[in-house]
Amino acid sequence: MNNTLHDKYTITSALPYANGPIHIGHLAGAYIPADLFVRFLRLNHKDVVYVCGSDEHGAAITIKAKKEGTTPEAIIDKYHQGIKKVFEEFGIAFDIYHRTSEKIHHDLSQEFFLSLYNKGEFIENTSKQYYDEEYHQFLADRYITGTCPNCGAEGAYGDQCEKCGSSLSPTELVNPRSILSGKTPVLKETTHWYLPLDKYQPWLEEWLLKDKKEHLKTNVFGQCQSWLKSGLQPRSMTRDLDWGVDVPLKEAKGKKLYVWLDAPIGYISATKQWALDTGKNWEDYWKKQENKEDESHLIHFIGKDNIVFHCIIFPTILHAQGEYILPDNIPANEFLNLEGDKLSTSKNHAVWLHEYLDEFPNKQDELRYVLTSILPETSDSEFTWKDYQAKVNNELVAILGNFVNRVMVLSHKYFDGVVEKGSDLTGEDRHALTTATTLVQKISQAILNYKFREALAQFMNLARLGNKYLADEEPWKKIKEDEGRVKTVLYVSAQLMANLALTSQVFLPKTAEKMFDMLGDIPRDWEDAGKDSLLPNGHIVNNPILLFEKVTDEQVDRQLEKLAKAKEKSQESSLPEQKPNISFDLFQKMDIRLGTILNAEKIAKTKKLIKLTVDTGIDQRTIVSGIAEFFKPEELPGKKVCVLLNLEPRKIRGVESQGMILMAEDTQGKLQFVIPENPLENGSVVR
Ligand code: 2FM
Ligand code: ZN
Repeated sequence: MNNTLHDKYTITSALPYANGPIHIGHLAGAYIPADLFVRFLRLNHKDVVYVCGSDEHGAAITIKAKKEGTTPEAIIDKYHQGIKKVFEEFGIAFDIYHRTSEKIHHDLSQEFFLSLYNKGEFIENTSKQYYDEEYHQFLADRYITGTCPNCGAEGAYGDQCEKCGSSLSPTELVNPRSILSGKTPVLKETTHWYLPLDKYQPWLEEWLLKDKKEHLKTNVFGQCQSWLKSGLQPRSMTRDLDWGVDVPLKEAKGKKLYVWLDAPIGYISATKQWALDTGKNWEDYWKKQENKEDESHLIHFIGKDNIVFHCIIFPTILHAQGEYILPDNIPANEFLNLEGDKLSTSKNHAVWLHEYLDEFPNKQDELRYVLTSILPETSDSEFTWKDYQAKVNNELVAILGNFVNRVMVLSHKYFDGVVEKGSDLTGEDRHALTTATTLVQKISQAILNYKFREALAQFMNLARLGNKYLADEEPWKKIKEDEGRVKTVLYVSAQLMANLALTSQVFLPKTAEKMFDMLGDIPRDWEDAGKDSLLPNGHIVNNPILLFEKVTDEQVDRQLEKLAKAKEKSQESSLPEQKPNISFDLFQKMDIRLGTILNAEKIAKTKKLIKLTVDTGIDQRTIVSGIAEFFKPEELPGKKVCVLLNLEPRKIRGVESQGMILMAEDTQGKLQFVIPENPLENGSVVR
């Protein structure tokens, strides 16, 4: 990759679902990288619009509303403002933070759908889909769960198995259940409008795997390649839901647009609103232009779970529509982990940004710095509070803060803040200044190539350079005998500090402002970065301001305790609630017996499934059991087990299972046999 600067940019960050607060994983995935890139473009005076907003449709919202016993409207209103505020606090420099519930978005999404419909781009298809008879609702995507047909994991969704990452359709799930009623759904006919991704496969292969090959990050390219390799299927662009954008067709009454159709259009509607607010023309940022050079460069910043939508589905939609530009790049990040575990909203294993703001007031740049230094750019990375403390104390305080403080304090102490050359520059001075120029070039190159960790490391090297220069020159020792030389040393140091102020505008916006406050009116444009005379000879600097404070052990311990408590609580609260009462009659209908496992073999191509032959006292039968993660087949023969005999037989992976082995399961999903202390003979009744 060796990217150069263009004139016009349309930058997007994934629209977060407005169904809960956001955490450090969000910032590190799609927002900090985009923000750094946008700040860099603006400092280079590029024509750029940076859009984002809340994603307010889809199952994420309605399922949360159901959980909280409220309406989708109440959920989005509750979280939209909070998320917006947190982004502002962290200086994420959107031009607009919009909402997909706005009318302008519904109108544009419908217009988009109709333009594809009128071009004959959709395939109308009636098929049987799962339906929850109790809730009178079709069950698409996250509304249906079951066993993954590929890895045997429980809790796979109708669109995806999060365990093995395979993309699914609801009818592929083994033992499907509605997440609404918990019941087995029935199949019912319904009509939907499908985008024939298969038809566009050859085009996508050309565009993604050939044209874009040089530009895409390897993690992004790899995912695209694997999606295309497994062959694309038509994907329905409509859903039977009661929350979302209405499908603008008479024959589709009550149906909504697929959330992954409307959400990315949210980038466009946000731009449209921004253009209305600022007197710009939104089409300049989204549509093809007569002269290719006038076109905007569209860059989507996302997390890795959104790659297929931004690399395959949305580009196909834009291409099929015909008038729109395609993404120039999609620099997706991998995931950020926390203290050795995955970040998890449901387990409350997270650093919530609103809580960080309360507990670490005015320390936004510290978190920006640490997160930038560990961005999961090429693989998953990890945030720990110890590392946070080390980076703040040993880098921000001890290097950057220390250098700036020494320059300012010494300039005031010796020369009342006047920065001037007192003698000719030496070889050391010139070397320090030219090294600064080289470091600035490295920062630019790294940013242009989406290597923000590298850019930040070079920025810190600039501070290191200043620190070392001062330590080598020892102005505090020379002040008595050679005031002229000390003047020059502080002049050179102040030029280095001015370069730090200028470049920190990309990474640490609040710190940059403090440095400018100290330095006074000096150039801020990127074209001036790396220059050796940002401060004119004789310039007077203002009083020193402290940039950073050390993070204490107590602060770290408090955060670690908080995470430990959350873990404890989540383990307690993950014990399932008692189920509703059942009648004695119903209980009596269950036929549970003791049995002995005679034979056990793993079912090929599954992670969890074992085929057992069990002696139940009355017969020998086959039972498929999802226990392979906990027991090896060879350790099972001879084991006494409790068996539910009269569970309706069902086919699992082509094998008919005639009953169920009863197991005890802990909150981590770990299984154990339930057997009496002194087992009776096979066939003994358990009641
Ligand atoms: O994964 C998510 O959180 C989605 N809300 C991202 C949407 S990005 C875009 F397409 F709007
Ligand atoms: Zn799976």
